[in-house]
Amino acid sequence: MHRRLVILGPPGGGKGTLASRLAEHLGVPHISTGDMLRLEVAHASALGSRAQAFMNAGELVPDEIVVEITTRRLAEPDAADGWILDGFPRELSQAQALEDQLGPEAVVVLQVPDDEVFIRIAGRRTCPSGHVYNVRRSPPKTPGVCDIDGLPLQQREDASEEVVEERLATYKRETTPVLDYYDGKGLLHRVDGTGDPDQVYERVLSELESS
Ligand code: AP5
Repeated sequence: MHRRLVILGPPGGGKGTLASRLAEHLGVPHISTGDMLRLEVAHASALGSRAQAFMNAGELVPDEIVVEITTRRLAEPDAADGWILDGFPRELSQAQALEDQLGPEAVVVLQVPDDEVFIRIAGRRTCPSGHVYNVRRSPPKTPGVCDIDGLPLQQREDASEEVVEERLATYKRETTPVLDYYDGKGLLHRVDGTGDPDQVYERVLSELESS
């Protein structure tokens, strides 16, 4: 199976949930630009301070920041033999920056209706290490506590209804041309992202294995 994969889709579309399982299956790193940016914010780095306002408003963080952290991460030794990129590229300029290195072998876009996006994001809780739960669909064993590391679960700062609306609008405006770009190159796989995470994972695996 391909070892350089891009996972795209709307906010709350299940990119992170799918990418972490695929990464484990393939033995390659799961590289999420959202997670890397949130880490920079948590560390109060100069880069994180610049990114935070854009993230809290549901807008894209400027290219020079996102391309820099992604390029740096892709150059690390564990990514030499493949990677799963979650949430990058989101603009044509970012797709071009990725081509300047080693581009993806396949691009999966999860298709999830807007109303499902709002339900999933309202229910999502994450621990500081990034483990993801959903109070409605995949709750932790003890409410409010991560099963894996026992840390308290939180809701993300960009989870309000108003910000989610903006994130969805940004996705439709900025990322649709990226989907068209990869479609034109014959790399795009549109996959139904509804149903439970196991179903979505199996659907994606069979789509990629038959391509
Ligand atoms: P990012 O963190 O990438 O956010 P996003 O794209 O809005 O996506 P989410 O992380 O909200 O959702 P997801 O698709 O990973 O879904 P998840 O698996 O968690 O980016 C955040 C911000 O950073 C952006 O707004 C932007 O400002 C900036 N940024 C990031 N990348 C950038 C870039 N390239 N350029 C510029 N700026 C960038 O699932 C959601 C919930 O649903 C969870 O609770 C999960 O348990 C549940 N769930 C998952 N799958 C299913 C399923 N099949 N059925 C039911 N529930 C499910």
